[in-house]
Amino acid sequence: MIMNKLVFLTVLLASTLQTTTAIWKRKTHHFNWEIGYVFWSPDCQQNMMIGINGQFPGPTIRAKAGDIIVVEVKNTLPTEGVVIHWHGIRQYGTPWSDGTASISQCPINPEETYVYRYTVDKPGTYFYHGHFGMQRSAGLYGSLIVDVADGEKEPFNYDGELNLLLSDWYHENVFSQMTGLSSSPFRWIGEPQSILINGRGQYGCSLAGGIQNGGSRKCDVANMTGTQCRPVMFLVEPKKTYRIRIASTTSLASLNMAIGEHKMTVVEADGNYVKPFRVTDLDIYSGESYSVLIATRKKRSSNFWINVGVRGRKPATPPAMAILNYKPSLDYKLPKSRPPVTPQWNDFARSKSFTYKLRARRGTLKNHALTVNRRIELLNTQNKMNGNYLKWAINNVSLVLPPTPYLGALKYGLKGTFDADSPPETFPKSYNVMAPAQNPNTTQSSNIYVLEFNRTVDVILQNANALAENVSEVHPWHLHGHDFWVLGYGDGKFRKEKDIPRFNLKNPPLKNTVVVFPYGWTAIRFIADNPGVWAFHCHIEPHLHMGMGVVVSEGIDLLGDVPKEALACGKTGTELMNTTFTSP
Ligand code: C2O
Ligand code: CU
Repeated sequence: MIMNKLVFLTVLLASTLQTTTAIWKRKTHHFNWEIGYVFWSPDCQQNMMIGINGQFPGPTIRAKAGDIIVVEVKNTLPTEGVVIHWHGIRQYGTPWSDGTASISQCPINPEETYVYRYTVDKPGTYFYHGHFGMQRSAGLYGSLIVDVADGEKEPFNYDGELNLLLSDWYHENVFSQMTGLSSSPFRWIGEPQSILINGRGQYGCSLAGGIQNGGSRKCDVANMTGTQCRPVMFLVEPKKTYRIRIASTTSLASLNMAIGEHKMTVVEADGNYVKPFRVTDLDIYSGESYSVLIATRKKRSSNFWINVGVRGRKPATPPAMAILNYKPSLDYKLPKSRPPVTPQWNDFARSKSFTYKLRARRGTLKNHALTVNRRIELLNTQNKMNGNYLKWAINNVSLVLPPTPYLGALKYGLKGTFDADSPPETFPKSYNVMAPAQNPNTTQSSNIYVLEFNRTVDVILQNANALAENVSEVHPWHLHGHDFWVLGYGDGKFRKEKDIPRFNLKNPPLKNTVVVFPYGWTAIRFIADNPGVWAFHCHIEPHLHMGMGVVVSEGIDLLGDVPKEALACGKTGTELMNTTFTSP
């Protein structure tokens, strides 16, 4: 144990030191947030959403690598709890700040405050969002951007920076959505009404006009002045290089972004540098983030469309648009050119060729990540439960979260708070991933994968046919608490004899979210070096709500005390009461 603790401390120190040569310069950024409902018109139609300090989207957090972030979150939602997850931040040594209800903490009760305190240890493009019920879909999100530490440099140069936080928006409120998803008969939420760029979209009209842009009516932009749905305009100078940060926190939609007459060079993915490659458009799945560089053209006063369209599902949502405006152009002059066309929604070959291009900028596989200690194969299926309830399941287990957060339950050895059996490591070899399951029934469980500390784990995410014939969906999987190496992808069923020798061990990209294509598999590797309890799930909000995720834990015995505030519910709550209120 002592040995282990030492290892952990060394790992922790090393990871902090790596990115923070100027450790004495680390700054603490303090925020006070009130989470509450606001009336807002993100797509020109007024609705109720979750805002932060009266704003939607929430404020952007900006810090330097090595800095400490302190966010005092006060819940002013009148009748529900809330938590906030810092997507892409690994929370080394602070697993209670990961912001996952039932996993890392209790939901913050109405009128109560919880303090998130953590280090942003690595530069990159991140975001934050609600992680209780479907609060992300209710609008609870914002950007989190980490710059390199003082004295460090990015491995590329640029003159200016733009930031795009992409999301999708439903007019139906999330309570109604959740009720439909867990009802029998099942009621699917359908496609979103609009795509939002930095919280702004246009419903029922198109900025560019024309059927091909999804709206026959042209928006009356003059009338949008001063409104919450006025399109985003980015002002740039000619003949310069810009870094565009793009993150997607959509509930459902996979997206593609293109900029009229500008090629993009991809340089970052999920907070990790990638080997630069040039594209005309970029695919982005929920939970992912990218940085691209663009070179602006010579001519002043010109302007171009930034177009964001739906991928992977038959689009029933018009593309979102923003404007790239060259100085000294007048505000809100719309481009005369046609918007760039984003690819066909079902051109999966094209999506794959984009995704398969990602490589680490430098070989990143650590030495002790060359030997695998455990391989877990996770089969994603759509299932039925108790007759007619529709679920998603992993190796035939549909995730259901317990009332007592795992972190406290494990740390203090409280029995009976979640299912103690181990979830299956694999699925029957005879399973046919190309056809609907012969027996679609699933069970629900709150069981977890207990990982040995500091060991290397491979996970094979295996997609399959959904319940209906000839349907297999896209699932972007996100791991909390770690980055992982993406070792490979393939179509059909994963075959270890054939596929393992083809793994990319040379320059696999490090990511925290990865897509699993329809009927395909994706292989990832990570080191279980972060004591805590971590969610690993499909980032499509309704899929997660329907059970599409697993929970892993590692190194709990290496953790210090979990803050009491994270434990005031379920059995840990009862324990707290017993120790605090001893009767006289
Ligand atoms: Cu961005 Cu568990 O999610
Ligand atoms: Cu999914």
